[in-house]
Amino acid sequence: MKRIYLDNAATTWPKPEPVYAAMERYQRDVGASAGRGAYRDAHTAHREVDGARLLCAQLLGMSDPSQVIFGCNATDMLNLAIAGVLRPGDRVVTTVVEHNSILRPIAALAQRLTLDVVHVRCDSLGFVDLDELRRACTEKPPRLVAINHGSNVTGAVQPVREMADIAHDAGAVVVLDAAQSLGHIPVNLAQLGVDLLGASGHKGLLGPAGTGLLAIRPGMEQQLQPVKVGGTGGDSDAVIAPELLPSRYEAGSHNVPALAGVSAAVRYLAERDVASIAQHEAALTTQLIEGLSEIAGVTVYGPPPGPQRLGVVSFAVAGYDPQEFATALDAARGVQARAGLHCAPLLHRALGTHAGGGLSRLSIGWANTAEEIAAAIAAVAELASAA
Ligand code: ALA
Repeated sequence: MKRIYLDNAATTWPKPEPVYAAMERYQRDVGASAGRGAYRDAHTAHREVDGARLLCAQLLGMSDPSQVIFGCNATDMLNLAIAGVLRPGDRVVTTVVEHNSILRPIAALAQRLTLDVVHVRCDSLGFVDLDELRRACTEKPPRLVAINHGSNVTGAVQPVREMADIAHDAGAVVVLDAAQSLGHIPVNLAQLGVDLLGASGHKGLLGPAGTGLLAIRPGMEQQLQPVKVGGTGGDSDAVIAPELLPSRYEAGSHNVPALAGVSAAVRYLAERDVASIAQHEAALTTQLIEGLSEIAGVTVYGPPPGPQRLGVVSFAVAGYDPQEFATALDAARGVQARAGLHCAPLLHRALGTHAGGGLSRLSIGWANTAEEIAAAIAAVAELASAA
């Protein structure tokens, strides 16, 4: 049975061929640590990291690559953004559409720092209530507003610029979780108007697992304290973290083979153009939503197809537990889905799907085809009719 991979919101698969080749080439032929040695291959390693940084900065429309920080995933980067900004007694405004990569770091700090945390509601499609956001920011100005770009449950793309303007009017720092959007739709740091943007390297960016980035608006480093400290390869005599970016936030050895893969992936994205990937994924999303919506007993969640929607499609099937349904889809037709609460418990409560164990989710990537989507719709229809 052919594998039909539709779990691209968890991680994209497959990767473009040059990603595999770059990682193998690096590990076999170079293999040195970056920023730690004066011999030829150590310099090559260092250039590999710098190259990845430059490519990511260009993708995000940033002129200074040193404002791109590498880490091991979006969660790692959002932990840095959140813990690096918050101080005792701060107010934090976030929303119910967030993933646990934002909810949990805030919750973990809330007790220790005696934070005042507000979760702004969303509508039935998953869009954040902007009036409530405005009220939450004006009744008492927050230090931090932490928001989601594209939802890993509903696929809703939030009006980030408008939200950032509301937050900035209140004097807050804006942290954006772009884990689901980067590489799937064009993402430009300055145009979005956010201060800190955390994303995965292994999702829409098409790089390998164990990679993530934090894009820092110039000047923001003055408000962002390092969270992880240790060896940086330079300034070894100093007991505190270096001031200079990116070392200020990058302690420990880099995952250079993976960053070689990230470089190859971002080159691929630049060649193919993110806007054309977005168009391809949008067409498949329309096909999937329309197909699922016609099946008796299937309820699709999130916005209708359009620019405010990513290819993340969650749905309920009458008569099935979401997890059992996803397992049955794989067993019957090789369709690979993720089911459950998707690490976004407040959003499932808001949608009314929490008590039923969440939803089943199909999520589209760059390599999916119309034939695969048709096969997935047929598989859902077959199982739904057997309920
Ligand atoms: N990894 C998370 C998911 O699968 C974001 O939805």
